[in-house]
Amino acid sequence: MAESPVLSALVHSPSRQSLPPSSFAERLVAWQKSAGRHDLPWQASRDPYRIWLSEIMLQQTQVATVIPYYRRFIARFPDIRALAAAPVETVMEHWAGLGYYARARNLHRCAQEIVARHHGRFPASAALLAELPGIGRSTAAAVAAFAFGERAAILDGNVKRVLCRHFAIDGFPGAAATQRQLWELAESLLPRQDIETYTQGLMDLGAGICTRSRPACPHCPLTADCQARHQGQQAQLPTARPRARLPERAATFVLLRDGERLLLERRPPSGLWGGLLAPPEGDVDAVLARLGLHARQRQPLPPLRHGFTHFRLILEPVLCDVAPPPHLAEPGCEWVGLAQAASAGVPAPIGKLLRQLAASSQA
Ligand code: ADE
Repeated sequence: MAESPVLSALVHSPSRQSLPPSSFAERLVAWQKSAGRHDLPWQASRDPYRIWLSEIMLQQTQVATVIPYYRRFIARFPDIRALAAAPVETVMEHWAGLGYYARARNLHRCAQEIVARHHGRFPASAALLAELPGIGRSTAAAVAAFAFGERAAILDGNVKRVLCRHFAIDGFPGAAATQRQLWELAESLLPRQDIETYTQGLMDLGAGICTRSRPACPHCPLTADCQARHQGQQAQLPTARPRARLPERAATFVLLRDGERLLLERRPPSGLWGGLLAPPEGDVDAVLARLGLHARQRQPLPPLRHGFTHFRLILEPVLCDVAPPPHLAEPGCEWVGLAQAASAGVPAPIGKLLRQLAASSQA
């Protein structure tokens, strides 16, 4: 077919680049139609029961795993009344292997509630669906969009990833403020029409293109104005969960200095740094008394923090200048040259402390 003069002018005009790009939603819808998934078993129907079941199964579970479960479930519980009437044990048997079993218990409760309170008919809006057991805001929106064509925004983990990347949103998506921002954004992007295709497009893009690792950016319909891609931040977005603060434990280490030598003691075989050499640990007076030493002067040094897997140790060093008795009675103790102490087989943070001490003693 010949091109119309208007279309020809648009396509061939040198100023084509300056035309506004089609919207986020328009590109996503066009892409879903040509490259998205169209043959998933639950897509053959607008039955809210089937769509709801698929959406619950698809939470935290991949499509390929869900399909056989979905088919068996529909064969055994063809509608909401069949599911509501079944013993919960039978429902659990049909769920076994899918994981996250609270989903199955809520599914059953939800079916019973729909039968008891809604005459066996799904409420036809996202807001009402979200009041039912096991149906969160995003799942309610997906069911409402697919079953009733409602313009409602979904925001599951995959969609959060797509939005955080496309708009370079750098808060942790689980944080309340970021979540609010993402919901607002998700709502603002909704198209006036094609909500089903748009919703499926977001899901397909998140599952197959904008994947957690190694996203297929060259195949993404939204790549031209993707902020993460422009900034090379695909691997950094979405922002990871902030690490929980580790519990802290403080320990005093007594740096007993005799002129140019430092006292190291072998630690007990079990426990922290078992069997390694380190300055004696514990209350200064108790350490001095145990070793029969007298401190001419004592000086707290700046603390040093060291992270272990399950806690953070704050090393609080106290430097004590001592005059040693003729020999040390305590077994496992030895005087080591200050310059050599850091490399005498001590743990890493102690080595750091001793290097700092050696450097400041020289200065
Ligand atoms: N993930 C969540 N809902 C989905 C759906 N309807 N189709 C494909 N993947 C999904």
